[in-house]
Amino acid sequence: MTFTNVFIPGAGFMGSAIGYLIASKTDASVTLYDIYPESLQKAQATVDRMGKSSLDKGFITADKLQALKGRIRYSDDRREASAADLVIEAIAEDMKLKQELFAHLDQICPDKAIFASNTSSLSITKLAAATGRTDRFIGMHFFSPAHIMKLLELIAGLDTSAETLEKIRSLGEALGKTVINSRDMPGFITTRLGFVLINEAAFALMEGLSTAEQIDTGMTLGYNHPMGPLALADFVGLDICLHIMETLYQGFGDPKYRACPLIRQLVEAGHLGRKTGRGFYTYEKK
Ligand SMILES: NC(=O)c1ccc[n+]([C@@H]2O[C@H](COP(=O)([O-])OP(=O)(O)OC[C@H]3O[C@@H](n4cnc5c(N)ncnc54)[C@H](O)[C@@H]3O)[C@@H](O)[C@H]2O)c1
Repeated sequence: MTFTNVFIPGAGFMGSAIGYLIASKTDASVTLYDIYPESLQKAQATVDRMGKSSLDKGFITADKLQALKGRIRYSDDRREASAADLVIEAIAEDMKLKQELFAHLDQICPDKAIFASNTSSLSITKLAAATGRTDRFIGMHFFSPAHIMKLLELIAGLDTSAETLEKIRSLGEALGKTVINSRDMPGFITTRLGFVLINEAAFALMEGLSTAEQIDTGMTLGYNHPMGPLALADFVGLDICLHIMETLYQGFGDPKYRACPLIRQLVEAGHLGRKTGRGFYTYEKK
């Protein structure tokens, strides 16, 4: 099955790239929806930048670019979801906000529409429970930047149907992604493994095993990771790292997921990583 009308709530960092990806790889119409007009303006500028970069690199012709841009709409009106056959949610990582949004969209969207969330860590089963379509609800976890990164992690909630999984897997392949499947457990596969490494690297630093630079070099040169875990944590934001560790800890109730106190302390001090100029490393203000 191909989707013809994709509604994307959350026109931020991830939503804009997902919107661009879908418009560039399929013939679907895409609506990027956000509550803030500034976010919509930024999303449009991001899509323009991505399009220009593809054009400059010869990945797309000018005609194709114009056509794909014509298929992306920017809206602050939720009612535009009434024609959607697929919703891919990418709003803030907040269970209550996401549940409220999905409960409302459930009233607006056609019955057959599939709902997907791009959440990195929240329970797909719990999000689905806010709707009356738990069988047509799935986790569709893209990686940043979504129009470039090859991986798509699909998460089946407790009641996600095999048909929904198959339709979304086939869309993922049409988008040029390599698809992996995870059951719905806290942090799925990738968030759990990635953030446990970050957390352990923070423990290693806190325990004085070595310097941040040497811990990161251990993983870049020893394990061929493109970026060390502490540099990655600064890039992602230490507040987000803490939030994800708390989700894992609460979800499993297992002390092995306790957040490293050094991450908590840095967050309490307002040192959130690159975005504040200081985290595990210090960054020059631009
Ligand atoms: N940033 C990443 O690398 C990454 C990777 C994978 C998944 N995710 C997930 O994607 C989601 C979005 O992350 P992001 O980094 O793009 O965040 P972001 O802050 O860049 O974008 C979120 C957007 O949602 C909008 N928004 C907030 N509440 C809304 C609502 N009720 N209705 C409509 N719009 C609303 C905001 O205005 C903002 O534009 C999160 O669930 C996050 O966990 C992020």
